[in-house]
Amino acid sequence: MVETKGIDHRVVAREKARTLKRNGLVEVVEATTSLDDIGGLGLLKDWLVRRGGAFSASAKAYGLPAPKGLLIVGIPGTGKSLTAKATAGAFGLPLLRLDMGRVFGGIVGQSEANLRSVIQTAEAIAPCVLWIDEIEKGFSGSKSSGSTDGGTSSRVFGSFLSWMQEKEKPVFVVATANDVSKLPPEFLRKGRFDEMFFVDLPDALERAQIWDIVIARHGRKPTGFDTVVLARACEQFTGAEIEAVFIDALHEAYADGREPRPKDILEAMTHTVPLAQLMDGQTAALRHWAKGRAREAASRAAPAARNGRRMTEVN
Ligand SMILES: Nc1ncnc2c1ncn2[C@@H]1O[C@H](COP(=O)(O)OP(=O)(O)OP(=O)(O)O)[C@@H](O)[C@H]1O
Ligand SMILES: [Mg+2]
Repeated sequence: MVETKGIDHRVVAREKARTLKRNGLVEVVEATTSLDDIGGLGLLKDWLVRRGGAFSASAKAYGLPAPKGLLIVGIPGTGKSLTAKATAGAFGLPLLRLDMGRVFGGIVGQSEANLRSVIQTAEAIAPCVLWIDEIEKGFSGSKSSGSTDGGTSSRVFGSFLSWMQEKEKPVFVVATANDVSKLPPEFLRKGRFDEMFFVDLPDALERAQIWDIVIARHGRKPTGFDTVVLARACEQFTGAEIEAVFIDALHEAYADGREPRPKDILEAMTHTVPLAQLMDGQTAALRHWAKGRAREAASRAAPAARNGRRMTEVN
């Protein structure tokens, strides 16, 4: 957390964010998501909690450089964007969201100017979190050495990497990506991001945690459902699919004029084929790619790190 020593950096940053003129590239997002809203991903959450202190005055006095950023890659719907949002809450910093697609403007030289403007804005607001969702989409042209766009994405990408490498202002970049094949290798070199995490499908224990969170998020008591049984019944489901199933069950129950029952949820599950199953090949390829390159976001071997429940309860 940011310390209150004389001035509260959070208040200053919030004021700066308020005065930010909307330039259409960067948007200030209200950071209402916390780490408690994320089921599973214990190792990633631990990492965020431990790094969060590094923006304080005492960390600076200790000689710690401000953390640069985090890259989260993984299977669609597993909570990458959710975690990016929760990072700002965990660090107690304002959250800026960058739409990379908009950086690439129409006229010559516009994209470079756009990137400069984004960097200036983020540095003026620092300390802050700069969230870049699906970063591979913005930079995908750079891998082809600019053959498709006259080298623009290549140049913008180069400037972005230099900034990541050299930046001294505390702008913590959280980038998410699904399609790693579109990420240029320079991107992954150490020195740019502090860490890269891989988010896999949740295991049974994590799915039970996600059920608890999702049920509570929709205004119901998780204790009214056996979430361990629900978790067992939805193997290969992502967090996004679990939430979609619950919403489906809510609709069905509402149409009948009653509260949702476990049976409605189990019924809704039968209408869902998990994406990971449909995209079996891609899921396996992503896992293979991540092995040895990225840190696991969840610990499969250390149940103690995962919010209390014992593995034996669900396995
Ligand atoms: N681990 C989780 N814990 C709690 N809720 C989750 C989790 N994963 C996903 N969800 C729910 O699913 C929604 C979608 O997740 P999110 O957008 O973070 O996925 P993503 O990994 O960014 O997917 P994509 O790759 O498609 O962008 C979240 O807003 C949340 O409601
Ligand atoms: Mg996302």
